Amino acid sequence: LWIVDKGVDSRESYQQVERASLWIRQGEVVAFPTETVYGLGGDAFSSQAIEKIFAAKGRPSDNPLIVHIADEHQLTSLTNEVNDTARALIKAFWPGPLTLVLPNCGNVSPAVTAGLSTVAVRMPDHPVARAFLRACQTPVAAPSANRSGRPSPTTAQHVLDDLDGRIAGVVDGGPTGVGLESTVVDCSGAIPMILRPGGITAEAIRDVVGDVTFDPALSESSERPRSPGVKYTHYAPNARFVLVDGSPSFLQSYVNEARDEGLKVGVMTTEGNADQFDSDVVLTAGNRSDLQTVAREIYNTLRMFDEYEVDVIYGEVFAEQEIGQAVMNRLLKAAGGQKVIEPTE
Ligand code: TXA
Ligand code: MG
Repeated sequence: LWIVDKGVDSRESYQQVERASLWIRQGEVVAFPTETVYGLGGDAFSSQAIEKIFAAKGRPSDNPLIVHIADEHQLTSLTNEVNDTARALIKAFWPGPLTLVLPNCGNVSPAVTAGLSTVAVRMPDHPVARAFLRACQTPVAAPSANRSGRPSPTTAQHVLDDLDGRIAGVVDGGPTGVGLESTVVDCSGAIPMILRPGGITAEAIRDVVGDVTFDPALSESSERPRSPGVKYTHYAPNARFVLVDGSPSFLQSYVNEARDEGLKVGVMTTEGNADQFDSDVVLTAGNRSDLQTVAREIYNTLRMFDEYEVDVIYGEVFAEQEIGQAVMNRLLKAAGGQKVIEPTE
């Protein structure tokens, strides 16, 4: 474990970033901080390194990885077609939490793209990530540094909790800022399409490019509660997780019912609301008046419920606007689509 949270300027942290980048050049896998979540990096051109990433995470091999770059020059080794839309988005949002899906020119290991004709690229906006990527001197493929299916890591400790002993090391840059993954935008067509909502909002993208569409698969999971058993879990805590769209007393009624059944019950709420609930464990994730704070704390809060070993968690919902769209996307996945709505009279 290498501590560099003193900032990239100290001599010690500089040496640690150098050491981590040396591991990358030798084909090892190293976790590093970004402004969104911690990533598990490997040389994008080395199939051996990419195999190690998939093995460490237990990730299905048909799920492609994002390639991280330090500067725009590195784009030319990944794609030979950056259209006007992509250019405008790069100019507006890089470095930052925006991933672009571009035509793949075929240089990266086929395992990175799961054999697709496109490649996903992003330039992170985090001083440690940037120093690390520069030192690697190669594009770095990196999924979130969690075991597959678990909440994404927002601290170096989360990475160790999931991957200690399975990776060469982790560069500790302190807690991440955005707290949710980057927005993934497919730029290979005429109109850009959001494949995953994230740190850059749809509203901000629309301001730059005028028009943006959404992958239809995004709304499918939020339409109505999924049939039991058809669970799409991702970012998930160990306990059953149910979202509750309604008043605090409506949520409390579910808590009471579950406690009557002898279950240990958690409530995921927000600052200022916590005293409205009576349950075994009540945890807050941010403040509803500033959804950025909710985004930043969600994954850590979901992981804390695991430590309390609750059986079921009831959680509040948020308006699907601005960053709230990404927040709800992750919460619905963590809940496997389970949401109850308070009936209106
Ligand atoms: O913020 C982030 O994006 C973090 C940090 C580490 O950069 N990374 C991250 O990686 O979230 P991961 O592997 O957890 O998610 C990558 C997402 C997946 O949903 C994957 O399917 C999609 O990007 N993706 C990657 N390559 C793609 C491609 N060529 N076409 C479509 N989707 C792609
Ligand atoms: Mg992930």
